[in-house]
Amino acid sequence: MHRVIATLFLYLMFLSMPLFAQDKPLKNVEGSTSGWNQLSGEKLKALELKGNPISGAEAFKICQGCHKNGAIGTPSGAYPRLAGQYSTVLIEQIADIRSGIRKNPKMEPYSDEHVLSIQEISDIAAYLQSVPIQQNTAGFGSGNELVKGQALYLKDCAVCHGNQGEGNARKFIPLIAGQYYKYLLRELGFIQTEKRGNANPDMVIVLKLYGKEDLEAVADYVSRIPIGK
Ligand code: HEC
Ligand code: HEC
Repeated sequence: MHRVIATLFLYLMFLSMPLFAQDKPLKNVEGSTSGWNQLSGEKLKALELKGNPISGAEAFKICQGCHKNGAIGTPSGAYPRLAGQYSTVLIEQIADIRSGIRKNPKMEPYSDEHVLSIQEISDIAAYLQSVPIQQNTAGFGSGNELVKGQALYLKDCAVCHGNQGEGNARKFIPLIAGQYYKYLLRELGFIQTEKRGNANPDMVIVLKLYGKEDLEAVADYVSRIPIGK
């Protein structure tokens, strides 16, 4: 009789396991179940998996045609630098690109679920986070409005992105220091006009107040923040 009860008990535990798994808060992130950056579906799964950077380096090969060796991207800004970005941020962005929240038609065929498994997303994110960042040496703006750019940055952006553009892995805030100017400017435009479908809503409010020259000044300043200062 005891054995029957014990078996029944184990069976019930097994049945309720997926429920526990879903409710389990992730330890290393501050997420939400509603509103901006919902942690559910593939995104949640990829965040829960342990990424293997060695497999990630292998899986990243299909990405290098655009993002280049060592994930340095292109100073022209066509492709962003991904090296050194936080794995949480990378998983968020890849999952949002895959689900179409963030539109990225060029990348679609390479990030499709038939090409990339959820484990590979975790692996690639672990790999990219571990790649040393190279200083930006060519992807800058005019350099004419750096004082203004710094003032805007410290007033409006540092509260989230940090004084040195270092971001915050737990809160999914990207490292933006030394990212290429033209990429930054393009994204700021997308954020402002709400074309970047996954933009943080509090950031959108701030950027709505910016004119073209403000965007250029702040992007130029950020592109020149040295890494690891
Ligand atoms: C055909 C070119 C191409 C390929 C291949 C490609 N990407 Fe991209 N990726 C882009 C472009 C272009 C952007 C920037 C889009 C924009 O301007 O919003 C981007 C953006 C990203 C971003 C967002 C970066 C950020 O800072 O928000 C991530 C993450 C990313 N790619 C990861 C990958 C991974 C991982 C792969 C391989 C599985 C990959 N990409 C393959 C073109 C590509
Ligand atoms: C309320 C917090 C907050 C504020 C304020 C904020 N950001 Fe962000 N920013 C975020 C978060 C979170 C993300 C990542 C989510 C997303 O894609 O929007 C992000 C993304 C970005 C990106 C995209 C990076 C990439 O790799 O594609 C850029 C560029 C950026 N922010 C620049 C700025 C600038 C410049 C300011 C000030 C004018 C600013 N942000 C203000 C939170 C903030």
